[in-house]
Amino acid sequence: MKATALAHPNIALVKYWGKRDEALILPHQSSLSLTLSPLSVTTTVEFGVSSDQVELNGHTAKGSERERVLRALETVRAEAGGKLGPARMVSRGDFPASAGLASSAAGFAALAVAARAAAGLPADPKAASVLARRGSGSACRSVQGGFCEWRRGERADGADSYAVQRFDEKHWPELRMVVAILNRDEKEVKSRDGMKHTVDTSPYYEAWARDAEVEVPRAVEIIQRKDLEALGELSERNAWRMHATAFAANPPLCYMHPNTLGLIQHLREQRKKGIPVWFTLDAGPNPVLLTDAAHEVAAEALARACGAVDVVRCVPGGDATLKSEH
Ligand code: DP6
Repeated sequence: MKATALAHPNIALVKYWGKRDEALILPHQSSLSLTLSPLSVTTTVEFGVSSDQVELNGHTAKGSERERVLRALETVRAEAGGKLGPARMVSRGDFPASAGLASSAAGFAALAVAARAAAGLPADPKAASVLARRGSGSACRSVQGGFCEWRRGERADGADSYAVQRFDEKHWPELRMVVAILNRDEKEVKSRDGMKHTVDTSPYYEAWARDAEVEVPRAVEIIQRKDLEALGELSERNAWRMHATAFAANPPLCYMHPNTLGLIQHLREQRKKGIPVWFTLDAGPNPVLLTDAAHEVAAEALARACGAVDVVRCVPGGDATLKSEH
């Protein structure tokens, strides 16, 4: 009736940006990500308690956060036959919000794995990925480690919209992701709202969705042959194009800060000097640098030289795992 699971966040190299179904969280296009270690979130789920309780990082969750968790737990109850009773969920991230990475992706992946185990359901990465997706889209890519592809799917009920692992975390162990925290402020427009606004008002949206879809198989082929330069170029152009659709929204949406552009410009200069370092950028001002093990120290130094107040060096992470079942 009680289980604990740990999951890592992920960073998309081909981004998810825009839903075709808001309630089920179904994307317009496929996306591809890398799971990041050592950052993680640990979540415990216990069924059969006196009333539903949702605790996130030491605080009682309210509003839409609480609703999202309770909805996921309700799905598990229904699959398990419905007699599990109220649930208590406690989730804690080992990385601060200032890491610039959404802890919700790792949180919902850990929740999906823990809740299914607590309900006595069999381990099933596909079912866990579908469940995690209902909490937060990008969470479906944190159920498994390494490089995961979230296939958009075609069905209206979302049963074919989940992430599959394309390469595990051992495929490319020299790859490094260096998170550069330029600004710790909470972003003004959350991803959920920003992508909806973009879908609704950006004239570039259709082109974005079409382009991202065809970039996924290209990324897979590049990762297969471990070509850092090609992956860096693909990640950068995909990030630029996602942000371009947001710039073109009405009113425009800009997640970059002046020092974000400063760092991006500096990366170009460094590459001319032979330092292999590229970036990707989610819906916020803090870039994640892509490099290899031989250059991660140089990448950290250049992020700090461009104003990073904190830097987190990451390696490819593994699957979400059960820590204990009680
Ligand atoms: C820019 O998964 O946080 O990080 O599905 O509404 O919860 P919801 O959104 P979320 O959006 C992530 C957007 C992104 C790109 C990505 O991770 O693919």
